[in-house]
Amino acid sequence: MASNTGRIPVLEDLGDVAGRRVLVRTDFNVPLDRSGDEVRITDDFRIRAALPTIEWLVERGAQVVCASHLGRPKGSPDPKYSMEPVRARLADLAPGVELLENLRFDPGEESNDPAFTERLIDGIDAYVNDAFGASHRAHASIVGPPATLPSAMGRLLQREVEVLGGLRDRPKHPFVAVLGGAKISDKLGVVEALLNVVDQLVIGGAMCFTFFAAQGKPIGDSLFEPDMVDTCRRLLDEHGSKLVLPDDIVGVDASGEFATFGTRLPDEAKGFDIGPGSAAAFSDVVMDARMVFWNGPMGMFEDERFANGTRTLAQAMADTKAFTVVGGGDSAAALAQFRLDDEVDHVSTGGGASLELLELGDLPGLAALRGAPNA
Ligand code: 3PG
Repeated sequence: MASNTGRIPVLEDLGDVAGRRVLVRTDFNVPLDRSGDEVRITDDFRIRAALPTIEWLVERGAQVVCASHLGRPKGSPDPKYSMEPVRARLADLAPGVELLENLRFDPGEESNDPAFTERLIDGIDAYVNDAFGASHRAHASIVGPPATLPSAMGRLLQREVEVLGGLRDRPKHPFVAVLGGAKISDKLGVVEALLNVVDQLVIGGAMCFTFFAAQGKPIGDSLFEPDMVDTCRRLLDEHGSKLVLPDDIVGVDASGEFATFGTRLPDEAKGFDIGPGSAAAFSDVVMDARMVFWNGPMGMFEDERFANGTRTLAQAMADTKAFTVVGGGDSAAALAQFRLDDEVDHVSTGGGASLELLELGDLPGLAALRGAPNA
């Protein structure tokens, strides 16, 4: 990956855009509900988040052509992943703006085929990347156009880079990271990177059971990753003083009844959330911080019986005076479910992208913009 020190051009660097066709790569990969007769967008956050860039261009007379992927079709047209519901929503929010069909309907998108890029930029005068959530993918629409076209990052991408780059490069202490979710293997890179900058790394979600297993504690039938036990043992040995693990767990006992446990779970018990004592302790850590990054729910919050840990943490994120950043995906969905999404300083539109930017300090999409002809 190219050096992350060069300047990334911004919208103003495009010069006069009046009358020019501008391709805006957006991340309109939105959650859809397909249960009824019509496919419905359940959260249009990513569409609304791109509006400042689209409006900036439209107000200056540009013809805006948006392009995005949606879901993971296998390189050929699939009506299930049509952009039609997104097109309808975009028409409400930004009338007159074009939206191309799902980029992943062509295998050239994911394989970064130069011939696909050529087709994509045919008749286009300038390129804007506002697809933060997809900028960790070296796909054609992310890295191809800036090789030849005057290019810029949009406002959404600019803000993500400022906020997440700031966490990494200009931390305010105490800096606390709270990680949850099922798998430590998905987050190992970012865990190691964060351990170099944070004062405390709080671990919730099912990934805590792999740490418990590394401590030799019985975890019943709880989800864990046997292949990661040695890694967790090393992390505990090297960074034990920074790692904060739960000291109580809620879940179900051998007969399937709701139960509260300590950190040693009986045979056949399953843990599904951090317990009330841990939720209070994690909240205290968040309340005392000056900067907090949170990614991943504390438990299976979709089930009300196991939502307390995630809700308590979300409330602490809302209440603390610290600068608060929430990584995308499930933690952003949890915040929205608890109606606290307006109460934190920044909710990232990217899940994988926010973790990769924190881990590596750069993304393929940013490196490509630095190499643009107008950069
Ligand atoms: C996301 O939802 O995280 C982005 O849109 C990227 O999607 P992908 O993981 O399918 O590349």
